[in-house]
This record gives sequence, structure tokens and C-alpha cells, in this order.
Amino acid sequence: MEKFHCFAHRGASGHEPENTLSAVEKAIDLGADWIEVDVYAVKGELIVIHDERLDRTTNDTGYVRDKSLAYLRSLDAGKGQRIPILREVLDSVDRRAGINIELKGPKTEGLAVSLIEEYVKERQWNYEQFAVSSFNRRQLIKVKKLNPHIRIGILIDLPRRHYAIFARRYDAYSVHVQIDLASARFIARAHERGLKVFVYTVNNPEDIDRLQVLGVDGIFTDFPELVVKR
Ligand code: G3P
Ligand code: MG
Repeated sequence: MEKFHCFAHRGASGHEPENTLSAVEKAIDLGADWIEVDVYAVKGELIVIHDERLDRTTNDTGYVRDKSLAYLRSLDAGKGQRIPILREVLDSVDRRAGINIELKGPKTEGLAVSLIEEYVKERQWNYEQFAVSSFNRRQLIKVKKLNPHIRIGILIDLPRRHYAIFARRYDAYSVHVQIDLASARFIARAHERGLKVFVYTVNNPEDIDRLQVLGVDGIFTDFPELVVKR
């Protein structure tokens, strides 16, 4: 049987502040085989944060894009953790898990591709240890055009969002679908099209059981222990 993948959503964000190094470390402790993080570009660096504003997850307010990198790095992202740069996440994970980079902000795609290439060429990572996902299909096209070896995942959060033609044309690896849309039919159709199906965000054990029976390939969860314990 194929492995059922556990993506720690924003790290083990049910336990530690989301998208921080402590959430990443906790996810690995709990046995997640993938870490999902959200990124924005700031002054040529990818920083790891979910919202375009600082308000919800840090001790400041305002837009991420208006701040300097040094200032962003001085903030508290929860329990004294800093907002990481993506490079720090990769160094901390050090190939113990795969990394799903979710492109949230503009101009993140080229930076993500360069970073992945660097870690593959110089630090013994494999392309299979990376997944790049986005709701923005233009960004996924750009990633694939820059480097066809990189696996792209199509994020889907709306019903009847067509993805099959795009997936075939741009050789997508996976669809990352919101749990309410992950019907038996959706899953079967995606599999027929040769795509892996990863479902977000699944924090309820009964949902995990149900989705496993339906044959999904993995889930995103804030609580990796729910997957690993079974
Ligand atoms: O990548 C899955 C999930 O993270 C997408 O939604 O808002 O949590 O980034 P969001
Ligand atoms: Mg995300």
C-alpha cells in the first residue's frame, strides 16, 4: 500500500505558533513526513508567514510588504519565536521531512525555484522532497517553466473549479483540496487523471479515517500525531 502522507499544516500549528521553527521542529518530533509552510517575498528573501498582514500572528500590525526584512525579523511570531525565512526552515528540517512551499505572495515563484535548485544541487536534497503549491495558477505555470523537475500541487478551495486541463498541460503532481470538496467522486476522478490527492485541513480523527477509506494520498493537519498514531 502507498504511504499515507502527513503534512504538518504551517508546521505542527496545533501545538506551536504557526509557521515558526518551533512548529516545524514539533512536526518532526510528532512524525510528520511533510511540512507545509506559506511564503511571501520580502527584499529577495522568502519569509514564512500565512497572512499578508502581521496582525493575527505577530506583535505588530500592518502589511508584511511594507516592512524591512530586518524589522520583520525583530518581531515576535508567538512564544518568542521569530518569523523564519524559508532557508532556515530547510536547514532546520535538514531532509528529515519533505517541504511543501505554498506560494502566498507575488514574486515568490522564482525565489522558491532558486532555493530548491540550490538545496538539490548543493545540499543533497531531492526534487521529490519538495512540493510547490498555490491557489494562483500563473505562479504554478512559472514554477514549471523555470524548472520542470519541481512538483506542483494545485490548490482548490471552490467547488466546480476545473483543474484537469491545467493539470495535464502543466504536468501537475497533485491536487490539494479543501476537505468539504473531497468527495468520493472528486478523489476518484483526480486519481484517474494520475494526480495525488492531498486534503486540507483535517483535524478530526473520524475525517482522517473516512478519507483514508476513500483512498486519499495524505492530509494536511495541525496535529500530526493524529495520523502518525494510527
Ligand atoms: O496548503 C494547504 C493549506 O495550507 C491551504 O490553505 O489558508 O491554510 O494556506 P491555507
Ligand atoms: Mg497554506
